[in-house]
Amino acid sequence: MLNRLLPDTLPDRRWWIRTLLINAGISLVVLAAIQPIPVRPGNAPVVREPAWDSPETRQLTVQACYDCHSTETHWPWYSYVAPISWITSYDVIEGREALNFSDWDYTPEAESNEPFAPKTLPERIADEINSGRMPPGTYRLMHPEARLSDAQKQALIEGLQRTIEEEQK
Ligand code: HEC
Repeated sequence: MLNRLLPDTLPDRRWWIRTLLINAGISLVVLAAIQPIPVRPGNAPVVREPAWDSPETRQLTVQACYDCHSTETHWPWYSYVAPISWITSYDVIEGREALNFSDWDYTPEAESNEPFAPKTLPERIADEINSGRMPPGTYRLMHPEARLSDAQKQALIEGLQRTIEEEQK
């Protein structure tokens, strides 16, 4: 394939091959140099999980949300390789900050004087799942088990809603 892409004249070919080799070399050196940059947040011990309404709700949550919203993240091999590790680590750090099923301390938003009350957590979860924003598309690409059917999405939304409402009583 490379043969067909390169020009036919010999001096031009040499120039291209040398340029390609130099670029490949530089890329390898840069890739090797960035590997030690530490970013992975690692997994901390579980502090407290919500009181799940059923084992099925927990199972679906583990399947589709736990890699970013718990401290029981499963780190695939590519999450060890920079610069992909920077992206996966960022997702996990931000995800845990937004919602952490391993360190559960949900308190409902206080009533506000705004014309519209802020959305509750069950509403936000339903929005995220129904819109397809959660789990994120790039994650679904790499994780077939996180591609939930419509019935599973519904079960997950309702299960998390029951779990969160039960906690508040
Ligand atoms: C690949 C990592 C990843 C997975 C898997 C994932 N999330 Fe997230 N989630 C994030 C990140 C990062 C944020 C914070 C930034 C944002 O809001 O986009 C977030 C934010 C959220 C928020 C807060 C959004 C808001 O601002 O109101 C909710 C709710 C949420 N996720 C629900 C879920 C649910 C439910 C699942 C499983 C069905 C899930 N997520 C799976 C990465 C993930």
